[in-house]
Amino acid sequence: MHFYTPKSVLVALAAVNTIGAYAGLTTCSSSSEVLSCHNTTEASDLCCFNYPGGSLLQVQFWDTDPSIGPSDSWTIHGLWPDYCDGDYGEDCDSSREVSDVETILKNQGRTELLEYMETYWLSDDESSNEFWAHEWNTHGTCINTIDPSCYTDYYENEEVGDFFQEVVDLFKSLDTYTALSDAGITPSNDKTYTLKEFQSALGDIHGGYEVTLLCDDDTVYELEYYFNVYGNAVDGTYEPAAPLSDSSCPSSGIKYPLKDSSSKSKRATRSHSRRRRQ
Ligand SMILES: *[C@@H]1O[C@H](CO)[C@@H](O)[C@H](O)[C@H]1NC(C)=O
Repeated sequence: MHFYTPKSVLVALAAVNTIGAYAGLTTCSSSSEVLSCHNTTEASDLCCFNYPGGSLLQVQFWDTDPSIGPSDSWTIHGLWPDYCDGDYGEDCDSSREVSDVETILKNQGRTELLEYMETYWLSDDESSNEFWAHEWNTHGTCINTIDPSCYTDYYENEEVGDFFQEVVDLFKSLDTYTALSDAGITPSNDKTYTLKEFQSALGDIHGGYEVTLLCDDDTVYELEYYFNVYGNAVDGTYEPAAPLSDSSCPSSGIKYPLKDSSSKSKRATRSHSRRRRQ
């Protein structure tokens, strides 16, 4: 038996609000927008200016040990706000931490988004739902322009849904696998590539800017696209930017292995942790 509690009524109203004309993030007037990390005077409207996390990184995995996700796509790690100098904050608002992103997205009617995330946003060592909660709690809460105070008719967790939608939209605009294969860089268990080859291919979808390419020994497993943003982090304009941290891949001999389900068994033999950040 299901009872309509005040809470479920609120959730239902919240779902209606997502299409309401005046609900959502307060509009940023484009004339007053300054590119994040590029202000020369004090920026006063912190709902329309990403600060101090003015550098936003869209981070992607190429997980082959074990293989994670479709064999012809990189997968999503997250969207991280860094300060404009490579340093960063984490866990910025414990009062807005969540544990069940799946239910939040379902309650907001974002089922297509959730289905996409189930294919393209996966962890190699925890459940997807735990991984998504970690990404929100650790990084999402540090994006100042999606603070609840920046919303009209805010409902609980509205910014959480907006965050996940934005990360997915950004990821879809950064098709690493295709950019690489268009340049002849395809996964292989024999061939190797140079860092220059990677950077040139990825610059084609990133305004000519380099990315931070991360390797475990000489095997690529992750990359970071840096952006600065005009306006807020959801409705604003993302401008490609130069990386603020160094690639850890060698200049040549980079391995870009095939994803292969049989590699799952190799995981236990991994001898060291490769993750710089999560
Ligand atoms: C940019 O804006 C922020 C936020 O208002 C401010 O703290 C910072 O000092 C500004 N930077 C410059 C160079 O004025």
